[in-house]
Amino acid sequence: MSNGSDPFEFASLATAHDDGNYAEAVVPPIFQTSLFTFSDYDDMIASYRGEKVRPIYTRGLNPTVRMFEEMLAKLEGAEDALGFASGMAAISSAVLAFVEPGDRIVAVKHVYPDAFRLFGTILKRMKVEVTYVDGRDEEAIAKALPGAKIFYMESPTSWVMEAHDVGALAKLAKQHGVVSMIDNSWASPVFQRPLTLGVDLVIHSASKYLGGHSDVVAGVVAGSKEIVARVKAESYPYLGGKLSPFDAWLLIRGMRTLPIRMKAHETAAMSIAKRLQELDVVETVCHPGLANRLPTGLNGTSGLFSFIFREGVDIRAFADHLKLFKLGVSWGGHESLIVPGEVVLQQKAQPNSAHTFGIHARSVRLHVGLEGTEALWRDIEEALAVAS
Ligand SMILES: Cc1ncc(COP(=O)(O)O)c(C=O)c1O
Repeated sequence: MSNGSDPFEFASLATAHDDGNYAEAVVPPIFQTSLFTFSDYDDMIASYRGEKVRPIYTRGLNPTVRMFEEMLAKLEGAEDALGFASGMAAISSAVLAFVEPGDRIVAVKHVYPDAFRLFGTILKRMKVEVTYVDGRDEEAIAKALPGAKIFYMESPTSWVMEAHDVGALAKLAKQHGVVSMIDNSWASPVFQRPLTLGVDLVIHSASKYLGGHSDVVAGVVAGSKEIVARVKAESYPYLGGKLSPFDAWLLIRGMRTLPIRMKAHETAAMSIAKRLQELDVVETVCHPGLANRLPTGLNGTSGLFSFIFREGVDIRAFADHLKLFKLGVSWGGHESLIVPGEVVLQQKAQPNSAHTFGIHARSVRLHVGLEGTEALWRDIEEALAVAS
């Protein structure tokens, strides 16, 4: 399979989920059921003994959820995948499957804030230590890795959008026998397929681009059979963050247009980022596509980036005068969104913590949606006319 160069190749793969058992329906059914009954006693006991793999209870296995998992596994080039009720359920189950008290995790700086909070609360109480490293500093990472259990990556990182050489970092983790994981929500499998770069486990907030319509909260992990089996056995059934059949069905629908949407987000966001960079009122634009080259393995850029205004711009007026960009968190849907950094900084990273996730007070984060580049740029220009 090509690595994102032909989005339509992804699209055709993304339809290959139906084994023909559903009356030739082009859209699969939703198995909206909590349980599955047994034909007789022998059937039941064979399932309990593990002689048959079949759905028993939806928290364990559900055919609609399985269709989504198989589809995502194909897109990521994984042997297996496991759906979750949210991206955070996927992150927490993945991490908790591999650590015990006394263990250490190495994580890149500026991970998604709730992942940072998970590390600083539950994992801290479990006596699991987290060492943060600059994802661009391979020397520091090589020093931090010996003895660690997990190397946790996110590339590009949240808000500050630092893109890392994921293949090189995965190789370092392998050299030190450390399980590598990456939050790949930003790039999606259309633009980055970390398993092909040597990463052990890919994690997504499927609430973002995989769903793509801002109507579902979900997560997924993907990797080798062995590594996904470990998450299935160690944490997933007991933490209980199961993806619901209806949400899985929405994801199947959303993923059919993933490559086309990603291309549209990329084109519009890149154009807006470049125009912003030309403005006197803008100090810095944090968008991986503005660097001389993308890191190896990152084959495109999505719709989310941030920029820092110069002093003197009224960011409140800017945000309030935008019409197409709505004030709202999350991202990855059809709609354009803005989050002012100053607003995010109102919430402490953790009680008594001065940590700021690298967020500049004069920065804003934009998600560039599918409304059309020129209309979105006009919206920005009109709001800037009032704010600067
Ligand atoms: C990069 C990233 N990872 C993970 C998450 C968490 O996903 P969810 O909200 O689906 O739990 C988010 C949510 O905003 C995110 O931005």
